[in-house]
Amino acid sequence: MSGGRSPVAFVATAQPEYARHALAELRQAAGGGRAEPLAEGVFLFQPRGDPEAVRAGLAAQPPVFLRHLHPVHRALALPDLRPEAGAELRSEAVADACGSTASGLAPLVEATWDLLAGGGAALPPPGAAVQVQVRRLGLRGGPSAFAVKAALDPVLAAAGFRPVSRDPEWVLSVTLCGAPAESRGGAAGQRLAGDGGSAGAAGACRAFLGLSTPAENLSPWPGGAIHYPRAAVISRAAFKLMEALELFAPLGFCLRPGDRALDLGAAPGGWTQVLLDRGLQVTAVDPAPLDPRLQGRPGLTFLQGRAGEVPLPPAAFDLVTCDINWHPLETARTVAARAEVLVPGGWALVTVKLLGGGNPTAIWRRAADILAGAGLRLVAARQLFHNRDEVTLLLRRAD
Ligand SMILES: C[S@@+](CC[C@H](N)C(=O)[O-])C[C@H]1O[C@@H](n2cnc3c(N)ncnc32)[C@H](O)[C@@H]1O
Repeated sequence: MSGGRSPVAFVATAQPEYARHALAELRQAAGGGRAEPLAEGVFLFQPRGDPEAVRAGLAAQPPVFLRHLHPVHRALALPDLRPEAGAELRSEAVADACGSTASGLAPLVEATWDLLAGGGAALPPPGAAVQVQVRRLGLRGGPSAFAVKAALDPVLAAAGFRPVSRDPEWVLSVTLCGAPAESRGGAAGQRLAGDGGSAGAAGACRAFLGLSTPAENLSPWPGGAIHYPRAAVISRAAFKLMEALELFAPLGFCLRPGDRALDLGAAPGGWTQVLLDRGLQVTAVDPAPLDPRLQGRPGLTFLQGRAGEVPLPPAAFDLVTCDINWHPLETARTVAARAEVLVPGGWALVTVKLLGGGNPTAIWRRAADILAGAGLRLVAARQLFHNRDEVTLLLRRAD
């Protein structure tokens, strides 16, 4: 797999428990293809037909469980990075970071130069901000992500691009893999068993290299994973809202200071805290009490009770958020019954639990149908990195 500018495959990522649903989405977009597990929730996907058509297929039917996808323009072996050679490779990684030319990453550097040097439509425009995003899968030892970025940033600069560490316009994705999952006999291999053979020898280190935009990757973060500091939030649930705000920003979803938000299922108060911190007026509703740290926060009104029962005025909110841990269809019915509290054009962000063992796609679609029946149009549905057995729906009330 080397030479051309079209992707020959994709590295795809989903929550491990939902990887087969992500694979189904990818197969539908690609018109078929085979998958090789690389790690828990990560697989190499080789489309049956034209790889260029995969993007169009995903654009026509945006995936929900497929969290991240990067193209593979070059796939190569890195023989000097064998997983067994952990100790000396770690010290070599330090040398790499200091600019040493004695690098086991030389084939990767060459492949990157080869990819960037040829010109063509798939290249970023000159001067574009390009971030090297590195993932290490099943590698014991070997260079750190930092060392790989340190080795490739000068190549980007020499090719006329601007290496960055955040907010990229383009991404150079590097997935480094240890032994193929099947040869390790791991759970990842078993989950997607029967999807195709391994492309590499057991024990070999492989690198998958691809150039794309964050939008094409379905996420601005490597593997679609974003980590926030725990210390700052009242509950981990806050991470869901923080992630949704970043991921859905390109769709126009944003919080404006002074906006009025209704937070259903608010306790202990992680989402409420995020909304208050961004300058919104928040009405929080929950039968359970809020965390004492929220007491006295300006802009906060707490209504202790059930979402379906507390009195609320019509057209009084710019945003409704709902993170109720309840049956998904009951949650949808509750929000639908409250749809009139939103102003026309107002947003709703709803967590749908995938409980009960049914088909997860059928569950979230049924919930979205109920919400659509109340005039809340589905804008996006995604299983976020911080969603576990959930899908997050972004909706908008008709103008
Ligand atoms: C996952 S927690 C919400 C976490 C919250 N978003 C945060 O950031 O801290 C789910 C909440 O839903 C609440 N809940 C359950 N049924 C409810 C209902 N009918 N109306 C309002 N809240 C409800 C529970 O009391 C619980 O506090």
